[in-house]
Amino acid sequence: MACSPETMSSFAENRVILVTGASSGIGASIALRLNELGAVVIASGRNEGKLDALKRRAHSPTHFHLEPKDLAADMEALPQWVEELRIRYGKLSGLAFAAGKTATMPFMQYEHAAALKMFDLLCHAPLMLSKAVIDRRNCVAKGLSLLFIAAAASIAPNKGQTIYGAAKAALVCAARCMAKELAPRSIRVNCISPGLVRTPMLDETVELLGEGFLQHEEPLYPLGLGLPEDVANLAAFLLSPAARWITGQNVLIDGGRLG
Ligand SMILES: NC(=O)c1ccc[n+]([C@@H]2O[C@H](COP(=O)([O-])OP(=O)(O)OC[C@H]3O[C@@H](n4cnc5c(N)ncnc54)[C@H](OP(=O)(O)O)[C@@H]3O)[C@@H](O)[C@H]2O)c1
Repeated sequence: MACSPETMSSFAENRVILVTGASSGIGASIALRLNELGAVVIASGRNEGKLDALKRRAHSPTHFHLEPKDLAADMEALPQWVEELRIRYGKLSGLAFAAGKTATMPFMQYEHAAALKMFDLLCHAPLMLSKAVIDRRNCVAKGLSLLFIAAAASIAPNKGQTIYGAAKAALVCAARCMAKELAPRSIRVNCISPGLVRTPMLDETVELLGEGFLQHEEPLYPLGLGLPEDVANLAAFLLSPAARWITGQNVLIDGGRLG
């Protein structure tokens, strides 16, 4: 299918797209952008107050549905949840998985139980959700796009991010395997790996590591630190038919820091 600028600007019309992590930061921005482009957005997060506030900012609130969910609480229940979403809102055309948390700690503090929790949210939850979304009963027959927000840490090592980086790198590798497996069904699977983006997650890191962290990092970004909208624009493109030949990619977006 040829993709004119008009197709891009209205690609999402009436498509049902599930966005996780929508109560904050990057996920919130993706949810608003897709809704602005005409999608029926299912916005998920844990904090209901923040989700309500986001809906008030939506371009088309009647096409903006809130589905609070703790994605790490019961991994086995996720497929049932996806089925319920499909019954309520229709077959899914896309998944943007932006839920996440960060953890910065010396490797000496590595603990198996804590690492499992991180892997559950950052890697297993997107995979469990994807498995349910690609079920033919739950998704459109053609053009399904799965998108995971990974992190630059999946590519370039950072001190203190052994678990976080490993979980994101595992997700990226999984996405590439899935892309090969699912291409015959025209299902695309991609990742975006942002560098530092101004969100509450970054505020948390600065609080933990001190202002010195930002003073060290900011000069490494020739185009400045990212904004959630920078990631949302790329996410909208990768979810759209304009990206119909792009799958299995992990797109680094980092204002020129380059790893
Ligand atoms: N900001 C950066 O510099 C940066 C850089 C690279 C990658 N990333 C990645 O980008 C993604 C979004 O990060 P962000 O910066 O936008 O962070 P954020 O503002 O802290 O937002 C995180 C989102 O994840 C949701 N979440 C956390 N735990 C959850 C759980 N157990 N179940 C369901 N939802 C949960 C939060 O929901 P509630 O608030 O409702 O709890 C919130 O909506 C993350 O995967 C992060 O690793 C961020």
